[in-house]
Amino acid sequence: MAAPHSDAKPRYRSDDGRELELLKHIFSLPDLERSIRNNPAAILNEIDKFSTTESHLIHVGPEKGAMVTALIADEKPSLMVELGGYVGYSAILFGDAVRRAGGQKYISLELNPVNAAIANLLIDLAGLRDFISIVIAPAHLSLARLLEKGVLKSGIDMLFIDHWKQRYLPDLWLIESLGLLKPGKSIIVADNILHRGLSESDYIPWVEASPEEKQKILQKHTFKSLTGIDIRNTVINGGVEGAEAAGIDLELVPGKSELVYEPISKYHTGRDDAKEKDVGIHILTNKS
Ligand SMILES: C[S@@+](CC[C@H](N)C(=O)[O-])C[C@H]1O[C@@H](n2cnc3c(N)ncnc32)[C@H](O)[C@@H]1O
Repeated sequence: MAAPHSDAKPRYRSDDGRELELLKHIFSLPDLERSIRNNPAAILNEIDKFSTTESHLIHVGPEKGAMVTALIADEKPSLMVELGGYVGYSAILFGDAVRRAGGQKYISLELNPVNAAIANLLIDLAGLRDFISIVIAPAHLSLARLLEKGVLKSGIDMLFIDHWKQRYLPDLWLIESLGLLKPGKSIIVADNILHRGLSESDYIPWVEASPEEKQKILQKHTFKSLTGIDIRNTVINGGVEGAEAAGIDLELVPGKSELVYEPISKYHTGRDDAKEKDVGIHILTNKS
């Protein structure tokens, strides 16, 4: 018996090779050399078209993307870091915007080596190879390694969080503990804040909480004892291995309850104005 007809959009699948199909598609476009190479906007347009007409992709997309590029033009971050690079759409869009705004570097942290390889080729095609770096590993390990190498020693100006929802909060806690946010300056952009997977975590309560409320959130979690350990200095001096030797679990360290964030309301989208019902962008300044 034939399967019942359904108008529902097929669910995204991460294992069906659609990202490689995208790569093949882009490199077989007839006007590749004439109008696509070294043209970030044309590449982004092709990714959007592929996602609409061939297979759905899980990139940030043009509407939310435009909000973030406007923010970049206003705030002019020098160093922008993203958690979750996928096929390089946000890296190309935001990396190009950071470069245009006079920034120094865009770093994309991606767990999946196939996605990272695709992103690297598309970033190269866009002419952004010298500006954007992709680091392949779980974000918490990459953050520690980049701090040890000195790449993050001056802090992150703008952070784009867009990886797996259960990692938003623990990776933000690590970033806080490593002292990577600049008081009063750093901006955090988080995609999919209305996603069910995220509402099950304490990410939104954490970024909206007062220091006292944050203490209560921390009490819900069980952390390894870190008495007397300076996480930032341990990582700067010994990297991931030094942290392990000191008993630090980089995957789950307590955040800094004294840090307070503020929403930047002019860019904040929620259920009402996001294009899809359960996605939005939440932007916060670190005020303390
Ligand atoms: C929603 S996609 C990112 C989309 C991308 N920011 C864009 O807009 O073009 C999520 C990506 O996060 C990656 N990811 C998941 N967990 C991660 C982790 N712990 N560290 C780094 N990357 C991770 C996944 O492999 C996937 O490629």
